[in-house]
Amino acid sequence: MSSKVIVTGGGGVIGRAICARLTAGGYEPVAGDLDSSIPEGRGAFPFAFVTLDVTSTDSIRAAVAEAVPAGEGLAGLVNCAGILRDSFVGELDEAQLDLMFQVNIAGMARVVEVTAPLIDDGGSIVNIGSLTGHFGRFTGASVYGATKAGIAAYTRYLASELAPRGIRVNNVAPGVIRAPMSPSMARVSGGEEISAGYAMLKRIGEPEEVAEVVEFFISGRSSFVTAQTLLVDGGVVAW
Ligand SMILES: NC(=O)c1ccc[n+]([C@@H]2O[C@H](COP(=O)([O-])OP(=O)(O)OC[C@H]3O[C@@H](n4cnc5c(N)ncnc54)[C@H](O)[C@@H]3O)[C@@H](O)[C@H]2O)c1
Repeated sequence: MSSKVIVTGGGGVIGRAICARLTAGGYEPVAGDLDSSIPEGRGAFPFAFVTLDVTSTDSIRAAVAEAVPAGEGLAGLVNCAGILRDSFVGELDEAQLDLMFQVNIAGMARVVEVTAPLIDDGGSIVNIGSLTGHFGRFTGASVYGATKAGIAAYTRYLASELAPRGIRVNNVAPGVIRAPMSPSMARVSGGEEISAGYAMLKRIGEPEEVAEVVEFFISGRSSFVTAQTLLVDGGVVAW
């Protein structure tokens, strides 16, 4: 069985933490991301990296061919690429609306389409959703939240379809994490203090706390868990 795991969005804050945790767990992560995600250059990036744009199937095919030499397989896939743009009613930007669906939902399906044949039987896929797919108190996150809610449904159907091969598919849905995705993040969440106030634990989360759960779902330690959404949100939705 392969130990290689492709992590889309692997150049981002949570993606890097996932690559680090997978490495510690004995996996070989390959970060797939837009080149712009590693401004310091590939030389300084501590993980294997392939240029990958999830909005383009050609780009995904080229990246996967580079990451997985012929005859090799994958232990798993982490779909972490995602973008947040605010979408307040009256201010909706059509291009950003399309891009959120293209990256957050369609991009995930495109990457699965190319990688699923390469994932070993018994392997695992983790989709990164979000608290916003299960919560309505953030304003301006309606479109982003809709894409992230869609990931929960996508995960269930994909899990059902891949179960005959023993491939498990789960959705890790972080709450507010110390990883400012874009200026929209503070506008939507209200900032760290307000976000922390929504959580039972009265704080925001760290990227490593998400990565820990992702590695658990990739590993055989979660061998009888599939089609699930697990909120890593410090107890926001349950409260
Ligand atoms: N930061 C949070 O509080 C939070 C909360 C819930 C969910 N999430 C989710 O976690 C994931 C990672 O977010 P993050 O906080 O690390 O943000 P981030 O912006 O640091 O990372 C996202 C990565 O996705 C990449 N990406 C964007 N468009 C892409 C494309 N077309 N093709 C390939 N890669 C692309 C970016 O280059 C970036 O490296 C996202 O899916 C996000 O929606 C984040």
